[in-house]
Amino acid sequence: MSNMQKIRLLFIASLVPIIVWIVFASEKERELKIVFPQDRSILTNPHVTVICKLNEDAKDKPHTLPNLTVNGMTHEWRKEYLPTILVAGVKLQEGLNWLQIGDAKVSVYVVGEKAKTPPADWKEIRSHPLSVEKEPTCSTCHTLTKGIGTPHLGEVQLPKACDACHSEIEFELKHNHPKRSIEHCTICHSIHGSTMSSLLKRTPKELCKSCHD
Ligand code: HEC
Ligand code: HEC
Ligand code: HEC
Ligand code: HEC
Repeated sequence: MSNMQKIRLLFIASLVPIIVWIVFASEKERELKIVFPQDRSILTNPHVTVICKLNEDAKDKPHTLPNLTVNGMTHEWRKEYLPTILVAGVKLQEGLNWLQIGDAKVSVYVVGEKAKTPPADWKEIRSHPLSVEKEPTCSTCHTLTKGIGTPHLGEVQLPKACDACHSEIEFELKHNHPKRSIEHCTICHSIHGSTMSSLLKRTPKELCKSCHD
């Protein structure tokens, strides 16, 4: 091996830890999923329920909870569903707001009396009413398993979780479709954020096409 080859080899070898570090660092970022609010969204209600999900590995490491800052001010997470589900009820200001969640930065625009011109390419995003201003009511839809320690916010049983508030009559009126074949409501509805009316995921036409020609 020539000296030149040795130097090259050494150079490549020195890159390995850097690459490994980059891969791990990006893995780490993916541990956090921001469910609401989405970046670059327009909101009509200044009372926002911030919802994040940490992956299961984070469960044993509650000390790794990401910080939440709202327009530069530190904000506490609610304790109910820690450590995997992070919830905070925050009041935003009219106009542009910045949320920093761990390494992620989220910008949202709240329309109001004095703030009527959001950035042109941003979209209005709504979610199902949650009424978290007083108390998070997450368990009206999610099953809550009370083990040792904090309760775990689990699955949503469809359509049972919805039937508690949305009657059969309302369903028939709004859908004109046999319920048994579309009782998995989330085929069409996006509970935690949609840019469309009735919290739909796509246009009704596109939704029907996923099952009917
Ligand atoms: C009206 C019913 C309903 C309420 C209330 C509700 N959820 Fe959900 N949630 C759902 C459904 C349905 C899903 C399944 C995802 C979907 O929409 O397809 C879900 C999914 C989630 C997820 C996983 C999202 C993802 O993309 O991985 C998290 C986290 C979550 N909910 C947290 C919460 C928290 C926290 C609250 C209370 C502040 C809450 N939910 C209240 C119905 C609800
Ligand atoms: C095949 C797609 C699809 C599925 C699956 C579906 N929906 Fe819908 N839903 C729609 C569409 C489309 C509308 C809008 C109807 C309209 O505007 O007249 C709607 C409207 C609604 C509305 C009224 C919304 C409003 O704006 O007043 C409610 C409530 C609702 N759905 C609940 C449910 C529940 C609960 C389930 C599960 C049991 C469900 N939906 C499953 C497509 C679907
Ligand atoms: C605790 C009661 C409650 C539960 C449980 C519940 N909803 Fe609702 N839902 C409401 C209320 C209240 C509204 C607002 C009605 C209105 O604005 O007229 C609503 C509105 C909606 C809308 C229309 C939203 C919009 O902005 O147009 C849809 C779609 C919907 N619900 C679907 C669901 C689905 C799917 C589930 C089950 C995962 C569910 N809901 C569970 C109470 C509930
Ligand atoms: C998840 C798959 C799925 C989606 C999405 C879906 N359908 Fe259906 N649809 C079915 C099945 C399966 C049947 C057969 C009836 C049954 O078994 O419930 C059916 C039956 C029907 C019927 C016959 C109704 C009857 O009384 O026999 C009509 C009309 C219909 N669908 C229209 C629509 C429209 C419009 C949409 C979009 C809003 C839609 N479907 C979305 C699965 C779906």
